Amino acid sequence: MFNEAYSNLVIEHFMSPRNVGSMPDADAVGKAGDPSCGDSLELYVKIRDNRIIRISFLAFGCAAAIATSSMTTVLAEGQTLDAARCLTDQDIAEALGGLPDEKMHCSVLGAAALQNAIDQCEKNARPAQT
Ligand code: FES
Repeated sequence: MFNEAYSNLVIEHFMSPRNVGSMPDADAVGKAGDPSCGDSLELYVKIRDNRIIRISFLAFGCAAAIATSSMTTVLAEGQTLDAARCLTDQDIAEALGGLPDEKMHCSVLGAAALQNAIDQCEKNARPAQT
């Protein structure tokens, strides 16, 4: 049923993804998509004192996209915006015990959506120009 090169953690996060769902009171929504396969991710974040206190996601994609989106939320929750900005697709893949080479691109969705959400948070926090 699964690509045999998937780690047990990838399969576990795909079967039981963490932090799934939209967040009506999110402070920012980060979006990312992979035009080559049509997969997409929306990442919702709630921020307090420059820290991600809640994070959730909705994804349309392959098993690796779901698993990496789930792991992105696990790694980012509780982090400061500066620390979360440093999370890379490699960090996400490694936290899942690695991904098959042909699936490494799937981990880019999580990292890109997170960066997009952080960009929006920082933009919203800037005082309006007068
Ligand atoms: Fe599209 Fe995995 S195949 S993100």
